[in-house]
Amino acid sequence: MKLSRKDILGMEDLSVEEINLILDTAESFIEVSTREIKKVPTLRGKTVINLFLEPSTRTRTSFEIAAKRLSADTISISAAMSSMVKGETLTDMARTLEAMNPDVIVMRHSAAGAPHMLSGLIKQSIINAGDGAHEHPTQALLDMLTIRERKEKVAGLKVAIVGDIAHSRVVRSNIYGLIRMGAEVTVAGPATMIPRDIDKMGVRVSCRMKEAIKDADVIMMLRMQIERQDGNIFPSLREYSNYYCLNAQNITLAKDDVLVMHPGPINRGVEIAPDIADGSRSVILDQVTNGVAVRMALLYLLVGGK
Ligand code: CP
Repeated sequence: MKLSRKDILGMEDLSVEEINLILDTAESFIEVSTREIKKVPTLRGKTVINLFLEPSTRTRTSFEIAAKRLSADTISISAAMSSMVKGETLTDMARTLEAMNPDVIVMRHSAAGAPHMLSGLIKQSIINAGDGAHEHPTQALLDMLTIRERKEKVAGLKVAIVGDIAHSRVVRSNIYGLIRMGAEVTVAGPATMIPRDIDKMGVRVSCRMKEAIKDADVIMMLRMQIERQDGNIFPSLREYSNYYCLNAQNITLAKDDVLVMHPGPINRGVEIAPDIADGSRSVILDQVTNGVAVRMALLYLLVGGK
């Protein structure tokens, strides 16, 4: 099987059938990472370039591991080690990489739309590994795989997403994906961190965390993205955490078997209490594990599937 598209740029344009194909394929790849020899020959002879022009631990490492477990050759490029520091433009860099004939370019960039621009420029497949505050499709896919693994479905679940909604690419990708797969999504955060028209994406909106997490099947906490905020949009981190930190008291409002998720990296004690992040309802590390399988699935379905 193969996805009949060149790139994965966002969840916005992925159909239910495509999402199910990616999640089913990812599920079949989970087992490879549990073997003693964690390698299959599927992408032998293919080349994957990880072009990470913004910091990353999880996404970059798991794309690299995913490609290696499929036997692809991988190269990682960061902004600091590239000729961008000498003033090379993204366009020139992309054309230079294209000339070396890789098969996939995985790209993270601080500017929304950067992978879309590259997609129109070069012939290779582009996977968006996060573009500014726009989309992070592979995060949403691994989140849905984790939900499906634990709850055996996505449709009909009550999902609360809490935190810095305005600056989060994770929330946008998850809203597109979760709504399309039939979940009921509520977003919550301080009014200054909620985009005005977000309800048009089909979500409920609340400024009260307790209202949002009541009877939730899944609570997804978001990181306070201090690096993307351009001013004081909340008086202090301490006050933020008084209202929006998931802790042992407010989690009792959710269903007993609620799943606690966080894309990482975590600000412990700001948006999530350490005992909840490390507690029995947390699937944060399962999300990381599933990230490898989802990225294997995407690489396979874009350039390896028959
Ligand atoms: N969730 C996520 O994108 O984490 P990294 O920034 O570490 O890749």
